[in-house]
Amino acid sequence: MQDSRDREEWGSRTGFVLATVGSAVGLGNVWRFPTIVARSGGGAFLLLYLVIVLAVGIPLMMSELAMGRRSQKGVVGAFRDLRPGTGWWLAGLVAALAVLLITSYYSVIAGWTLIYTLLSVAGGISGLGSAGLTELFAHLTEDTLLPIYGQGIFLVIASTIVFYGVTAGIERWGRILTPGIVVLLLVLLGRVLFLEGGLEGAVWFLRPNFAQMSFGVALEALGQVFFSFSLGMGAVLTYGSYLSRRDDIPVNSLIISLADVGIAVLAGLVVISALFAFGIEPEAGFGLVFIALPAVFNTLPGALFWSTVFFLSLSFAALTSLISFLEVLNALLIEERGWSRPRAVVTVGVLSFIAGIPSALSQSLLDSVRILGWDFMGLTDMVASNLLLPLSGLLTTIFVAWVWGTPAAEEEISLGAVSFRTAPLWSFIMRYIAPVALTYILVAGLIF
Ligand code: TRP
Repeated sequence: MQDSRDREEWGSRTGFVLATVGSAVGLGNVWRFPTIVARSGGGAFLLLYLVIVLAVGIPLMMSELAMGRRSQKGVVGAFRDLRPGTGWWLAGLVAALAVLLITSYYSVIAGWTLIYTLLSVAGGISGLGSAGLTELFAHLTEDTLLPIYGQGIFLVIASTIVFYGVTAGIERWGRILTPGIVVLLLVLLGRVLFLEGGLEGAVWFLRPNFAQMSFGVALEALGQVFFSFSLGMGAVLTYGSYLSRRDDIPVNSLIISLADVGIAVLAGLVVISALFAFGIEPEAGFGLVFIALPAVFNTLPGALFWSTVFFLSLSFAALTSLISFLEVLNALLIEERGWSRPRAVVTVGVLSFIAGIPSALSQSLLDSVRILGWDFMGLTDMVASNLLLPLSGLLTTIFVAWVWGTPAAEEEISLGAVSFRTAPLWSFIMRYIAPVALTYILVAGLIF
């Protein structure tokens, strides 16, 4: 066990928790989670979701944190150092590739949220109804340069933060942005609950409808937990590598997970109350956040303020997630290539920018390009989210359970933990439940 370490460490437990929650809370919390809950049984789905969080999400999060902290390495180095001389480092490479692809298009969408925030402040959104907003969104995405500018500026902001390193960059901004998301969502919730029908919407969202429960719904919950916790991409693993041996992995995993679920529910209350008050069916994705919700906010007195708060909360959510994606790749280059942080940050930023250009152009210059029926952004998302992420999640699980081995992982998790009495349960889940769950996510994602 190396204890004299030159690796940077989190300055505080709160900073680590907020940064990791920031990674988990992203656009998916706003445009996917509320819609899934609304469609799949409201409160009954939430109960099921919590069970899956406890049974699969938290054990996987603990495993990634333990791998990172034990090896003191990021995503490729962790596999290699825990099992040197084998080909397992390739599993880390799958994760790194997934992260690069996700970063490429996520930064484009993040750029849209930034452009909308600025437009909103300038008063360019508040007068529009849903037809005007539909047109505006088409204008933006069908423009050649604007999405690229937005993406570039967003990457510069995120890269500047990671440039300052773990404590002075990621942690410091996580402490501001993650609570910022919560405050902004609470402000919105405070408004939408007072709409006529808003409160009924919130009640409808939370009301359990057990009739809609099915095996399929459970599997959907499973996929959402995996995706929302930013698992399988090495983000949790890399953040875990900055933990000290005094930090409590089980307790921190529990806090991070419940915070992510809590913020998802908060976003769900905002989204569903707002839509319910206007009788709009919730649909996931771009249409929800760039058209339906701003249309609702635009009917309110002080529309400029409400749409600005909304787009700012989206930008913050996207930013904290993007920071974690960039850090996965930075840590990789710093360790594997011996690069300085500035060199890694600039390289990763430029690479992500270039890789994202086809996605930024996917609805303008490259609109006619369809690969297997997908536009470029859709294809990148499909390959990364449905193939590479679940694959690297599955490989990570097999690695922890059967290669590095649960006894070694248990020993690491126990360090600094007030108690790890659930160790036998954790080990059972990692060996038998999690591999089956991830195999399912992988297969289902490929055949839908
Ligand atoms: N968890 C974050 C979100 O909900 C970020 C994220 C994790 C993500 N995996 C992803 C985003 C895959 C896109 C695709 O947005």
